[in-house]
Amino acid sequence: MSGEKITVPDIMAAKGKRKLTMLTAYDYPTALLADKGGIDMLLVGDSLAMVVLGMEDTLSVGMDEMIHHTRAVKRGTSRGLVIGDMPFMSYQASIEQAVINAGRFLKEGRAQAVKLEGGARVCPQIKAMVESGIPVQGHIGLTPQSAAQFGGFKVQGKNAGAAKTLIEDAKLLEQAGCFSIVLEAIPAPIATMITEAVLIPTIGIGAGSACDGQVLVMHDLIGLFDRFVPKFVKQYAKVSDIILQAVKAYKNDVETGRFPTMEQSFTIDTKELEKIK
Ligand code: KIV
Repeated sequence: MSGEKITVPDIMAAKGKRKLTMLTAYDYPTALLADKGGIDMLLVGDSLAMVVLGMEDTLSVGMDEMIHHTRAVKRGTSRGLVIGDMPFMSYQASIEQAVINAGRFLKEGRAQAVKLEGGARVCPQIKAMVESGIPVQGHIGLTPQSAAQFGGFKVQGKNAGAAKTLIEDAKLLEQAGCFSIVLEAIPAPIATMITEAVLIPTIGIGAGSACDGQVLVMHDLIGLFDRFVPKFVKQYAKVSDIILQAVKAYKNDVETGRFPTMEQSFTIDTKELEKIK
């Protein structure tokens, strides 16, 4: 794999040629690892609120927190495309506010693109961002910022009417200028239809294997967040067990005098020591 920096046109050109990979990253170490692992896109997701900041949902995380974490992710990334996730109420109230906040992700966070949730209703904001030179990734299906409207975290597009709206939304997002679209918790056959209906890549999470790429939350993938594990997650490791084991071993070593030993201690010349006594 080439070590060259991935660009938005690279992502768009990958459709139909190779599968794209995207992972969330929230800080310098997760970005370093995702980037070293060759992941194409690093999303500073608003899932930060839940998996890093311990909040109940994604609604309370703000622009300043998102920018702070985006800067850290950017410092740990040399190849992947860094995408900042626009938090709840940073783009819904007005087009002007949406463009200003999207711009902050690029200016202050040094992200190369932003992502925001919604279909037809956010197209005016997306058009204005793209006209300002800001690359935008769309996100439809289960959009967690609207979970209250959906009555919870539920699979979307399960009847013909809802599925048609999702297909229409995807086409509108493409027309508005999105360079790719995240499809979250959508029946696989509908995600396939959406993928075939647009020329931009679809990135699935709980949307089957026909999408042009896949995304997962890093802390789900590595098993560092287990308040709940969605059906669409595949845990590739159980890092929380390893960390807990290390913490317990450390506590035990300190309490029993096995840590620190001379190996982890510093000495002083005996003559110097004598002078103090
Ligand atoms: O915030 C997030 O982690 C996301 C992904 C699940 C796509 O939006």
